[in-house]
Amino acid sequence: MPMRVALGVGGGIAAYKAAELVRALTSGGAAVQVVMTDSAQRFITPLTFAALTGRKVITSLFSSAGDEDTLSSSIEHIRVAQEHDILVVAPATADLMAQFSHGLARDFLTTLYLAFTGPVVLAPAMNTNMWLHPATQDNCKVLESRGHIIVSPGDGPLACGMVGPGRMAEPMQIAEVVLSHNASKKDLDGETLLLTAGPTREALDPVRFISNHSSGKMGYALAAAAARRGARVILVSGPVKLPPPDGVQIVQVESAAQMRAAVLQHLDASTIIIKSAAVADYHLENPPKQKVKKTAARLSLDLTPTPDILAELGRKKGGRLLIGFAAETSNMVAEARRKMETKNCDMVVGNLVNQAGLGFDSDENEVTLVMRTGETVQLPRASKRAIAESILDHLLKLRLALYASS
Ligand code: PMT
Repeated sequence: MPMRVALGVGGGIAAYKAAELVRALTSGGAAVQVVMTDSAQRFITPLTFAALTGRKVITSLFSSAGDEDTLSSSIEHIRVAQEHDILVVAPATADLMAQFSHGLARDFLTTLYLAFTGPVVLAPAMNTNMWLHPATQDNCKVLESRGHIIVSPGDGPLACGMVGPGRMAEPMQIAEVVLSHNASKKDLDGETLLLTAGPTREALDPVRFISNHSSGKMGYALAAAAARRGARVILVSGPVKLPPPDGVQIVQVESAAQMRAAVLQHLDASTIIIKSAAVADYHLENPPKQKVKKTAARLSLDLTPTPDILAELGRKKGGRLLIGFAAETSNMVAEARRKMETKNCDMVVGNLVNQAGLGFDSDENEVTLVMRTGETVQLPRASKRAIAESILDHLLKLRLALYASS
């Protein structure tokens, strides 16, 4: 089941950024119910959020005149409180924070806040002096002492002309905090994920190697998300500079040959395999044991192909779900589809690696999922953490579809 987010939008110039937040949350797999205060509706229309979420936006505590269903509308805040996993308020104005802090219930959002028992994330946005005022800071401390997460506002030029703290945090940053809080989702309980991440290094001599720009961020995000969602995770990792994700069994390797051996050793234990590693395609078969000296004017390398681990897994996967990646600089979807067919994968995650801020060594990615069912799903630009969550959502759906059709 997707994470169910109740998003309260307060009245401030940053309300327009809440639309971006909705996109980031939904692309991370969340279902979002928007609740707007009266003043928020002066900055952005409910229609914008209705279009983005596909749901009616809640704008008032009571049904408008003429609505017959007055009893159910008067307890709507209780239903919304019960049916959502997390309450997010962005922008959280000084006034809203004061009302939350003092337990006032004057409209739908403040009433929902009191009725809600789950985790609360607040993204304050206001003028610098209002933010720094002792009243706001005291309210903030009270709200933090209740265990609420405050996503601190950033520093910079504000709509009022001042420069200083008060700008609402970026929607992507808020979305990450929210999505990573989905601790209750355990839909990978009982699964063992065999994951590969990072680059491989193919030795040319004891001091030199061939490698690529993979940082391991995509694979580690998948490992962390899968472990959070209840899976046992075996992460076969090439050399990267990332700390091991919590609760993940790490197997460190260097070369493609070592990665192959580690993957085959753990194949039997796995139920799902994801190959996000950037494996070198060629290597020097017998690298010299001593450092190669710079003597000749030119040096040629006679490289031979490394083992194609994904293709071998495609032959040996049995009933396991096999997900490959395709790192491309053009024809991404066609290449991903070709790799899916030739390597017998169930899904291939295609990404372009020649776009600034995406692919290798970036915090964000934009991918297309090409699936055995014929379906193609585009996941728009989002953090690798959010992309990882969506890939896991889609692979679970894919497995159901494959079972149903077999
Ligand atoms: O690590 P990051 O910095 O976060 O970057 C993420 C990423 C760009 C590395 C990742 O998103 C990605 O695209 N990983 C796959 C990189 C790759 O090697 O793509 P490919 O199209 O060359 O290979 C296709 C598939 O075959 C991959 O699943 C790869 O793991 C696998 N392969 C490739 C060669 C080989 N000898 N054995 C393999 O198993």
